[in-house]
Amino acid sequence: MDITVFPAKSVSGVIRVPGDKSISHRYAMLAGIAEGTSRIANYSSGADCQSTLACIEALGIRVSRENGIVRIEGKGLDGLRQPEGELDAGNSGSTIRMLSGILAAQPFTTRISGDESLCRRPMQRIMKPLQQMGARIEARDLQFPPLMIEGARLEPIEYRLPVASAQVKTCVLFAGLFAGGRTAVYEPAQTRDHTELALEAFGVEVERGKGLAAVQGRARLVGRELTVPGDLSSAAFFVVAALALPHSRLVIEGVGLNPTRSALLDFLMSSGASIRVSNLAQTAGEIVADMVVTASAVRGGVIEKSLTAALIDEIPVLAVLGAVSEEGLTVRDASELRVKETDRIATVAENLRRMGIAVEVFEDGFQVPGRQKFQAAEVNSFGDHRIAMAFSVAALLAGGECKVHNAGAAAVSYPEFFDTLRSISNADK
Ligand code: S3P
Repeated sequence: MDITVFPAKSVSGVIRVPGDKSISHRYAMLAGIAEGTSRIANYSSGADCQSTLACIEALGIRVSRENGIVRIEGKGLDGLRQPEGELDAGNSGSTIRMLSGILAAQPFTTRISGDESLCRRPMQRIMKPLQQMGARIEARDLQFPPLMIEGARLEPIEYRLPVASAQVKTCVLFAGLFAGGRTAVYEPAQTRDHTELALEAFGVEVERGKGLAAVQGRARLVGRELTVPGDLSSAAFFVVAALALPHSRLVIEGVGLNPTRSALLDFLMSSGASIRVSNLAQTAGEIVADMVVTASAVRGGVIEKSLTAALIDEIPVLAVLGAVSEEGLTVRDASELRVKETDRIATVAENLRRMGIAVEVFEDGFQVPGRQKFQAAEVNSFGDHRIAMAFSVAALLAGGECKVHNAGAAAVSYPEFFDTLRSISNADK
């Protein structure tokens, strides 16, 4: 699907974004191995999170919807059954990596795969700890999906993550729920702690320290009612649009502002962005609030070291903001961007250049000078949801109408993205 995006004078209105993708995956998987029924409100409408639901259904768990609430009838730690065919994680790295932790502990073998993009993404990062725990896993060329996971009685481990990855942390902790003893994960930089909070919400005690999360095996999870906060990574596209377009004022309600996830706000606010946060509340340990974003002159800055891990999903849209900021944006220590749904260093640079924006590319990042002007152009999502949305925002800033090829990729995390974009855009002419 190609979409034409027209330049906008400003954005304004009051909006909500879909339920957080990261939290939705975790709630669904844990609900499947909990005892009793869970009801999850504001579950992400994105295709990735539907892939997770389809996988747990194929594992014998009943999933239904009542008035927009996802109802999952958990069967406890030992309640999953062998799926009839291959599990399909679609485009979702979170689904394959996190669910593998659970599959590794089953008394059966599962084959799990996904789309072409997913089949190019590295899986050794989860294979290594799960193999250490006792599972047998085969992969295409030793590292890519499809994965064939032969479950086992798992041994607990202490695992030091070589790269800061919440997906890998989650995979190991999920496997640890089934192991006989204490499984501990040490991370080199703090990653999002949705897993730790979700486990606690389902009744599991989590030992937490600086850079450490640990669980005791054979934990009992209890089904419960939960509400997923709005997805800050989805809100980020509109935050950038509102900051960059003069006279904009946008209210985004019910957004998750977990401190391990909200580096975006700290980074932008310390760079001159006007973002006001109000109506703070908590749900299952997650912070939720409303945000008011007003057009601002943003300085730009440097994203490196642990900040890179904290902002990893927002970097494509921050690159767009960087080009119109005062001092530009430098991103370093971001090689992980090369193994996302696309090589996001390459796809960001390609689209920026198509729009007449200068950018210098490094192996581990890029540098976009500030005070540049977006030209009308044809850009491409290359099948990556965040690239589709980041460059639709860039198109709002352009000198004429732009075409976004493969724009349908946005549905991976945000099927309603273009409707919302249209509803808040005030025409240029
Ligand atoms: C996620 C963690 C991040 C992020 C992804 C979702 C999660 O990936 O990019 O969109 O839900 O844990 P990594 O763990 O690979 O850094």
